[in-house]
Amino acid sequence: MADNAEYEVMWIEKYRPKTLDEIVNRKHVVNRLKGFVKSGSLPHLLFSGPPGTGKTSAVLALARELFGEELATYNILELNASDERGIKTVREDIKEFARTAPVGGAPFKIIILDEADNLTSDAQQALRRTMERFVRTSRFALLCNYPSKIIEPIQSRCAIFRFSPLSKEDVLSRLEEIIKLEKVNASKEVLEEIFHVSEGDMRKAINLLQTASAAGGHKITKELVYEVSGLLHPKDVREVLSLALDGKLDRARKLLFTLMVDKGISGVDIIRQMGTEITGLGLEPDQLIGVMSEIAEVDFRLAEGASEDIQITALLARIASAAKRNV
Ligand SMILES: Nc1ncnc2c1ncn2[C@@H]1O[C@H](COP(=O)(O)OP(=O)(O)O)[C@@H](O)[C@H]1O
Ligand SMILES: [Mg+2]
Repeated sequence: MADNAEYEVMWIEKYRPKTLDEIVNRKHVVNRLKGFVKSGSLPHLLFSGPPGTGKTSAVLALARELFGEELATYNILELNASDERGIKTVREDIKEFARTAPVGGAPFKIIILDEADNLTSDAQQALRRTMERFVRTSRFALLCNYPSKIIEPIQSRCAIFRFSPLSKEDVLSRLEEIIKLEKVNASKEVLEEIFHVSEGDMRKAINLLQTASAAGGHKITKELVYEVSGLLHPKDVREVLSLALDGKLDRARKLLFTLMVDKGISGVDIIRQMGTEITGLGLEPDQLIGVMSEIAEVDFRLAEGASEDIQITALLARIASAAKRNV
C-alpha cells in the first residue's frame, strides 16, 4: 500500500474529527467537554470504552478547541501505557514533558495516556502520584477499555466519560461521506457488511474501507470485504456447518480445510465465525447451546496453542453429535 501514492494517507487520520461538533453520537460527552472549553479549566479525564469509538479523537478535538490548532500540537503528549519500552520510559517521558511550563501561554499541557488499564496497580499508584505532582502544569487524559481496571484513587480524581460502541447508522453515515469524497463505488449492502465485520469499531471500519478500496480499484464488493478482513464468506461457513450438522463429516472437513488453505485464514478466526453463523441455522435452543459451548471450548484450546487440525476435526464431529443428541 505504501508505494501507492494515492493511498499514503490513512483515512482514519484524514477523516478524524477536527472539532468536537464533528464527533458523531457523543452528544452527552461533547456537551460536557464544551463546558470545559467555555470555562477554560479542565479536570483530569478518564475516557472508557471499546476501541475505535472516538476517545482519542475527542481529547484531540478538545485540546484544539482549548488551545487553538497550533498551540495544541506543542502542548499535547500522546503516550501508550503498553509501550514496549516499559512503564519506566513512559514515566520519564511524562516527567520530561510536564517539567516545563506550557508553551505559548496555554493554561496547562495535556498528557494522553492510552491503554491506561494495562498498567498494574502498582504502576497506577505511581501514576496517581505523578498526576498530583504535575497538576500545576498538566492534565491527564487516561484512555481505557475497562474502567473497572483503573484503581479507585485515580477514578476519583478524574471526570469520567463512557464511550459506547457506535450504532450502525453512525458508522454507515460516516462511511457514506468518505466514499463520496474518495469516489469509491460501494453499495449500501457492502457498507453494512463492513459495519457487521467491524462491530461498532469505526477505526476498523474505515481501515477496512480503505484497504478494500485499494484492493478493488475504488470498487468494493462483499467478497472483497471478507477477503481483506481475513474472513470466510459467511455462506461458506454456513455450508461447512450444515454439512457437519447433517453428519457429512468428511465433506465438511474437506471443504473447511480447502477454504482455510485457499484463503489463508487461521483456525481461531474460523471458529469465531462459526460461532456467529451457527445461530442462523435453525437449531433448537438446547442444541444451539450445546454446539456453542463446543465452539467456545475449541476457541479456548486454540488460543492456548492446541493443534488446529485436530481441534477443528474434533469440533465438527462434536457439532454433529450435539445436534443429534436432543432430536
Ligand atoms: N465518534 C466518532 N465520530 C467520528 N469519527 C469517529 C468516532 N469514533 C471513531 N471515529 C473514527 O475512527 C478513528 C479512530 O477513532 P479514535 O478516536 O482513535 O478511537 P479510540 O481512541 O476510541 O480507539 C478516528 O480517526 C475517526 O476517523
Ligand atoms: Mg485511541
